[in-house]
Amino acid sequence: MHRHGRRGIAATTDAGVGPVDPRNVPTVHSEVERWSPFKAWLYSLIRRSPKSNLAIVEYAGVEEGVRFLDIGCGPGAALAHAAARGAMVAGVDPSPSMVERAAARVGSADVRVGSAEALPFSDDSFDVVINVASFHHWADREAGLVEALRVLAPSGTLHVVEGLLREGKDGHGLSRRDADVLAGRMLELGYADPTIDSLRTGWRHEYVIVTGTAS
Ligand SMILES: C[S@@+](CC[C@H](N)C(=O)[O-])C[C@H]1O[C@@H](n2cnc3c(N)ncnc32)[C@H](O)[C@@H]1O
Repeated sequence: MHRHGRRGIAATTDAGVGPVDPRNVPTVHSEVERWSPFKAWLYSLIRRSPKSNLAIVEYAGVEEGVRFLDIGCGPGAALAHAAARGAMVAGVDPSPSMVERAAARVGSADVRVGSAEALPFSDDSFDVVINVASFHHWADREAGLVEALRVLAPSGTLHVVEGLLREGKDGHGLSRRDADVLAGRMLELGYADPTIDSLRTGWRHEYVIVTGTAS
């Protein structure tokens, strides 16, 4: 089941920071159920190599030797672009079907089943962490932000990338006001210099990108 509806970052703050019991994360469970092998295959055809994922990988400055993690990697479009640039690539997604597709697509990638709220990677292990159109699905966004900071090496960057929503409009993504709140919360959680930017990747696609640095 895919739940729509307005879920700004305020929902994250309400959820609070704390250990996540994997048995009690309904959104993650619904994501697992949502992506049957057939649907994951279909999605991977539609979003096999979208320009947007390439633009985001370029925006994040991914290059040879960079340790790169995509949270909510889906079928691995960003992983493929990062690997093609010589990065050391890892991905995580709660959907086993998505993980299977991403791993088959990018043989060099370390792709694991898991969720943003409990990343199955060690501390200080990535230079660049991104998530594309995934953050708004996270059951506990604040826990995910804390986890991303944990796995980032010093001076590493997290880029939260979401479709830009008009203020007051429901849908998948974040409005500029949501992005402002998110940047403020990232600062409180220990990210240095959160910034907000936008990226247009086609006439229909504009993303908002909130970036924070691990100090
Ligand atoms: C709209 S898809 C985007 C996939 C990919 N990033 C892309 O751009 O094609 C959202 C992805 O987020 C994943 N997701 C949902 N909840 C998540 C969570 N709590 N932690 C990590 N990923 C999650 C879903 O399984 C799905 O693969």
